Amino acid sequence: MQIDSIRKDFPVLNEIVHGKNLIYFDNAATTQKPKAVVEALNEYYYHDNSNIHRGAHTLADRATKAYEASRENLAKWFNAESSDQIIFTRGTTDGINLVAATFGKQFISEGDEIVLSTMEHHSNIVPWQMLCENVGAKIKVLPINEKGEINLEEAEKIFTDKTKLLAVVHVSNALGTINPISELTKMAREKGASVLIDGAQSASHLDVDVQKLDCDFFVCSAHKMYGPTGLGVLYGKRDILEKMNPYQGGGEMIKEVDFEGTTYNELPFKFEAGTPNIADVIAFNASLKYLQSIGRDRIREYENDLKEYGRKRLSEIGSLKFVGDADQKTAIFSFLLGNAHAFDVGMMLDAKGIAVRTGHHCTQPLMKHYGIEGTVRASLTFYNTREEIDILVESLIDIDKKLN
Ligand SMILES: Cc1ncc(COP(=O)(O)O)c(C=O)c1O
Repeated sequence: MQIDSIRKDFPVLNEIVHGKNLIYFDNAATTQKPKAVVEALNEYYYHDNSNIHRGAHTLADRATKAYEASRENLAKWFNAESSDQIIFTRGTTDGINLVAATFGKQFISEGDEIVLSTMEHHSNIVPWQMLCENVGAKIKVLPINEKGEINLEEAEKIFTDKTKLLAVVHVSNALGTINPISELTKMAREKGASVLIDGAQSASHLDVDVQKLDCDFFVCSAHKMYGPTGLGVLYGKRDILEKMNPYQGGGEMIKEVDFEGTTYNELPFKFEAGTPNIADVIAFNASLKYLQSIGRDRIREYENDLKEYGRKRLSEIGSLKFVGDADQKTAIFSFLLGNAHAFDVGMMLDAKGIAVRTGHHCTQPLMKHYGIEGTVRASLTFYNTREEIDILVESLIDIDKKLN
């Protein structure tokens, strides 16, 4: 990896925070954007700004082509059967809410069961709870072991003939655990259940192939993939998407409207009511092209090295206790430093220019499982370096002396 030249593509990495060079270790919350993404936004607004699909003029044509090119590239990125199975949403949360409000309402009813895991993000808990309140279904939870791994033997006992959906996170944002999606999907399928994967943390770190995963739904957010905020993708299997009612009504999602009734548009437009987030969808493609230019394999290999190195270096700190230390994980380190409050550690790291996340990471049931309020989370990606890990370790040793 040409790390120096990659870092130059991310202007924010040159920020000085409290007199120190920024070390950005909060990539699980949101990733930084390469220049190409910001430039794509400028390009669109300077040269192509127009509404899509309807206009008869050149700008509308350019905007429509760029918007649809992004969908095509996303289909390629996730190896979807076809680009009309790629639906633009406001993000992972919106994608899950869409599935709960459509598929959930239509196909899940009283007495049915929805299987989640202990480590779900609130976004993959609350929409299902809301659905259960409405239809009288029940949530069941896959247990995890001390290392933060789903126990497959225990999992098997959770699935029953009443299971209608498995909704599970691919990579835990709080622990970094990569879940055994294939095994879990197999268990769900044996009971005839559908499968939704929350791919917020896997979409740009793992080689996601929706056909190999054999999931019914895969959801993710552009802003965690080096793209813009407030945008995401819902992939769905065609037969299910076609059976699902629209999520919202309005323009674009219709074929014909009459006061007596409306016929709906075909996929993917059926689920994209109103003028979409055109500029950000176009800029999202710039982030994908950027990742493609580096190469997924190289990114994965490099991030794996950071994970191994980080795990080794952080383990050298006697008072540091990892919260979650799965065998299969990404470069997310969640930990506590002796008896120090996670928030104090986070504030002291910030004073040294190091950005981490502290708290429950929107996974309160998981924190409850560990009997803690929260953790310090350093989440790394391909523009981070071993040297930055060394600085984190030195800083933690210094903070440890002051707080413990
Ligand atoms: C695993 C996981 N699921 C869902 C979400 C929600 O993503 P968004 O806020 O972009 O909708 C996040 C974001 O932190 C996440 O990490």
